[in-house]
Amino acid sequence: MTNETILTGQVLSFTRSPFDGDPGGAARLDAALLIRDGIVVATGDSAAMQTLAPNAPRVAYGDALICAGFVDAHVHYPQTAIIASWGKRLIDWLNTYTFPEEGRFGDPGYAAVMAESYLDLTLAHGTTTAVSFCTTHPESVTAFFEAARARNQRVVAGKTCMDRNAPETLCDTAQTAYDQSRTLIDAWHGRGRAQYAITPRFSPTSTPEQLEALGALWAEHPDCLMQTHLSEQRDEVAWVRTLFPQARNYLDTYEAHGLLGPRGLYGHAIHLEPRERDRLREVGAALIHCPTSNTFIGSGLFALAARMAEGHRIGLATDTGGGSSFSMLRTQGAAYEIGQLSGTALHPAQLLWLATAGSAQALHLGDRIGNIAPGMEADLVVLDLASTPAIAQRATRAGNIWEALFPTQMMGDDRAVRAVWIAGQERHAR
Ligand code: GUN
Ligand code: ZN
Repeated sequence: MTNETILTGQVLSFTRSPFDGDPGGAARLDAALLIRDGIVVATGDSAAMQTLAPNAPRVAYGDALICAGFVDAHVHYPQTAIIASWGKRLIDWLNTYTFPEEGRFGDPGYAAVMAESYLDLTLAHGTTTAVSFCTTHPESVTAFFEAARARNQRVVAGKTCMDRNAPETLCDTAQTAYDQSRTLIDAWHGRGRAQYAITPRFSPTSTPEQLEALGALWAEHPDCLMQTHLSEQRDEVAWVRTLFPQARNYLDTYEAHGLLGPRGLYGHAIHLEPRERDRLREVGAALIHCPTSNTFIGSGLFALAARMAEGHRIGLATDTGGGSSFSMLRTQGAAYEIGQLSGTALHPAQLLWLATAGSAQALHLGDRIGNIAPGMEADLVVLDLASTPAIAQRATRAGNIWEALFPTQMMGDDRAVRAVWIAGQERHAR
């Protein structure tokens, strides 16, 4: 038996990238959307959807905006409980707050509670796909994939590998990192909506031997993603130079070990040399912009417009908990603010595209998620564009959909998220 639903509201679909000129013209609005068995069948006017599915139940969202669910391309779900920890920059922040908390995830019960908590919180903020680092414990990966499977949620995750410069209890070895990651790939990659990302934390916490082992694993499983961090803070870049004296630059520490490729996701990538930028673009790797994290842990400003103009693949992310928010709305606002400081006012369409289609394309999942179009998975967020008095009074002045959306991108939070649908099922409503 087929399962059909018609949603009505302002259904927003991108017809092309808003970075390819005239951003406001990159999307269309329809009044309705038909979902069948978790997949978008069509968008159009309400009568047309009714003709396609005369018996389908209708869910009416008034003038709320229905768009693709948010795709958060870089998070650390194990850092949920230490978000907004005071007073440290990257390396001290890792040692003071992050590593002690991550040390708790060898307990499968704790990992399960935190995975549920993370997915509950982010669902309420409109995030339908997250790409998460776990901890070194395989149990933390299993817990995350299990929690996502129970919600039929499309996620990407991997065991964070570290064999030096971290507490001993959090360290694996080159061999156990390889073995445990491989076992998790066999268990989870491509199972339902789960995908595995091979996950060396960053070069400072991996020996060359571990990077080599994970590069070999990626070569054996080239359809996996690979996620790591790159050139986030200047101190970190200097440290990498001392740890890898033979490397030409930070990116080279990955490339020399088989960890540079088109399915690579490089978090932050703020302080890049021209040669690193060229290589990343040549191979089609993705840079993941984490704007609230840029400022919260004092890393610096990612030059998004410049990287976009160079032709980089770019995703948008919260970087929970180095980032200071679970909200991909707040993250769009922060991306706007950082854009302003780098001399470019990003258009509301560009911000929304980055949080949906752009991130999905960074994950090579742009044909399945990140937009509303026939054949795509029905992961949707329904946004109330007048969710607070402050936003409502501003939105009434709007002359078009982008002016109506922008106050919510700048000032909105989970109160703006009226409903969230995952694979055609409503999973959150307020
Ligand atoms: N670099 C290495 N590990 C981390 C982490 O957990 N968060 C952030 N923001 N940067 C990192
Ligand atoms: Zn990170």
